[in-house]
Amino acid sequence: MFSNMREDIQSVFRRDPAARNAFEVLTCYPGLHAVWLHRLAHALWVRNWKWLARMVSNLGRWLTGIEIHPGAKIGRRFFIDHGMGIVIGETAEVGDDVTLYQGVTLGGTSWNKGKRHPTLEDGVVVGAGAKVLGPFTVGAGAKIGSNAVVTKAVPAGATAVGIPGRIIVKTSEEQEAKRQALAERFGFDAYGMSEDMPDPVARSIGQILDHLEAVEERLEGMCEALHKMGSDFQGKELPTLPDSAFPCSELLSRSSAEDDGVKD
Ligand SMILES: CC(C)(COP(=O)(O)OP(=O)(O)OC[C@H]1O[C@@H](n2cnc3c(N)ncnc32)[C@H](O)[C@@H]1OP(=O)(O)O)[C@@H](O)C(=O)NCCC(=O)NCCS
Repeated sequence: MFSNMREDIQSVFRRDPAARNAFEVLTCYPGLHAVWLHRLAHALWVRNWKWLARMVSNLGRWLTGIEIHPGAKIGRRFFIDHGMGIVIGETAEVGDDVTLYQGVTLGGTSWNKGKRHPTLEDGVVVGAGAKVLGPFTVGAGAKIGSNAVVTKAVPAGATAVGIPGRIIVKTSEEQEAKRQALAERFGFDAYGMSEDMPDPVARSIGQILDHLEAVEERLEGMCEALHKMGSDFQGKELPTLPDSAFPCSELLSRSSAEDDGVKD
């Protein structure tokens, strides 16, 4: 039991840069007090001391502002930062090394008995004010943005933000370079298509280029297979796209040339 308490304290140091020493953590971290009181309440709950378990849980809520139902299953090194306003429902399951910030709800969306609260796998982080509602799984290492409302499963390692929660797709540098090369091959000026641009049209074009590349790869594989079977299908050239097909690329290069002129 003491080794578990020690690792709970260590997890505060690992995840809160403001923590200064063990005495401060022991006395001033309501999240830690809530977790320890929950462990006691849960032990009573599973031994069928239901009312006493609810009382201990309620005492934890009075003292910390964090409400964890004694039936909820909580893993090791669970870290609650600040904590006020957190609600964790009866059938919620929380893996190891999970972090929750203030105002998070792990709630249900139905009044049916049985599993109605979410399962958070190991290493999940849920931002301040987020609501995770329903009996689905948030995969290992996933992140939920502050104030998001998530009602569907989140894959492992993904980040969900907004209302309703949507998964943010980050483009890797390698993928960005591939897009650029493909766009240049088509004679399209990839200027203005970086991941940092919030322009939805540019993002859509990026997605189309990714798809084109995947289709090309598949076609090449098919052509090679046909070639091995004696077909000359591969030898036929694809039509090229003229520059005039991309008036916006001309406009962009003109405006970038004008910008260069201004700088000179
Ligand atoms: C969701 C979160 C984990 C994402 O972090 P990240 O992986 O570093 O992602 P980024 O900051 O690069 O953001 C990626 C995109 O998501 C958006 N985003 C990030 N957090 C968001 C949120 N909570 N709601 C809506 N959009 C959000 C960003 O604006 C950015 O959008 P863009 O690609 O259009 O520019 C983080 O923003 C977050 O909310 N953490 C919780 C922290 C918290 O609650 N702290 C409380 C301390 S008291």
